[in-house]
Amino acid sequence: MTVSFKGKKASRRQFLAGAAAAGAGTVAASAAAAAGDPLITEKQIWAQATGDGVDATPYGLPIEFESDVVRRNVEWLTADTISSINFTPIHALDGTITPQGCAFERHHSGAIELTKGDYRLMINGLVDTPLVFTYDDLMRFPRESHVYFCECAANTGMEWAGAQLNGAQFTHGMIHNMEYIGVPLRTILNEAGIKPEATWVYVEGADASSNGRSIPMDKALDDVLVAFKANGEALRKEHGYPVRLVVPGWEGNMWVKWLRRVELTDKPIESREETSKYTDTLEDGTSRKHTWVMDAKSVVTSPSPQSPITHGKGPLVITGLAWSGRGAITQVDVTLDGGKNWQVARLAAPGQKMALTRFYLDIDWQGEEMFLQSRAHDETGYVQPTKAQLRDVRGLNSIYHNNCIQTWWVKSNGEAENVEIS
Ligand code: MTE
Ligand code: CO
Repeated sequence: MTVSFKGKKASRRQFLAGAAAAGAGTVAASAAAAAGDPLITEKQIWAQATGDGVDATPYGLPIEFESDVVRRNVEWLTADTISSINFTPIHALDGTITPQGCAFERHHSGAIELTKGDYRLMINGLVDTPLVFTYDDLMRFPRESHVYFCECAANTGMEWAGAQLNGAQFTHGMIHNMEYIGVPLRTILNEAGIKPEATWVYVEGADASSNGRSIPMDKALDDVLVAFKANGEALRKEHGYPVRLVVPGWEGNMWVKWLRRVELTDKPIESREETSKYTDTLEDGTSRKHTWVMDAKSVVTSPSPQSPITHGKGPLVITGLAWSGRGAITQVDVTLDGGKNWQVARLAAPGQKMALTRFYLDIDWQGEEMFLQSRAHDETGYVQPTKAQLRDVRGLNSIYHNNCIQTWWVKSNGEAENVEIS
């Protein structure tokens, strides 16, 4: 085993020897110091009997010790849990794929239960032949699989006026990232035959809210997927079982769940109650509308308020997520001092289009206070703005599309707090 630290490679032996000196840059106790540790010297209870057989849990759940890695809501945000939202525990996850079981949920009228047998998808409006597909029909089209993030336009929305919620889960957790399997919407539209005058696609769900949205035809024919699997398995009920729309890079409200109808039109059909809300109110009282694409954004997920430093001084892994609705992330910078000095973080893998990118910065932390921030760059050359820069353009009255740089104040005891610095 080799351990790489501050760019140097060391063998395991050297590393343990270094650890014995108990100096900076060591991560382990020396073998000698650990000699009295019963976890090393004694046969433990779990080694004295057999464990669970293979069928103990036909569909496994996380081990109980991970029971805090769960979705959470903020009770005062919404009147009830039916038209509400909860948050992905991004502070406790690593890698990029969000397990469905802890991926945030946003429902306008609750999560419905719809069987594959009862599922119907209607294509109507400006088409040559209106068609109705069953779930089995959808299974017969050629499939694609892609990893994409889904971010609610309201993510970070509570932070406009000041640092508000104390945790990456709450400030940035209206996002998930899954591998979707589905049929391109274009394939299904072509099956019905697109009339030349069709320029918009109105999509609606089978739930009481229907969550109707209009999508421009260019996007509908580009990369939109009619998806039925996520992360290898069927969509969970709360994510739209059996079929949802995936609209890469665009705000989550267009990702219609329990997709039941696609109508081709020559103008956008504004949905009855919600569309007016998905606008950004500017300082002068006017609104930004049709801001569908999610701009580049990033956040340090650890350390962060819900993920403090608990191991003391020495090697520290700083990690976080970056994403852009306009394409791939090309670079992420991290600052420890609130933006005075920036370092280029290491990307776990090259950025993929409209998908989460994991970044790391491995440092030697000597207990100094830090003002931690991350800054994303995407392939269009766009750079994530500071809060001040965003406010200059958008004021304080917005809710949606807050993609500003986030600051965590990490104290010398390892605890972290959501703060704003100017
Ligand atoms: N689709 C339907 N049918 N009903 C809904 O309430 N909510 C939308 C969208 N699609 C919604 C819907 C919103 S605002 C978001 S952010 C995403 O679904 C959230 O998807 P998720 O619940 O899988 O996280
Ligand atoms: Co949303």
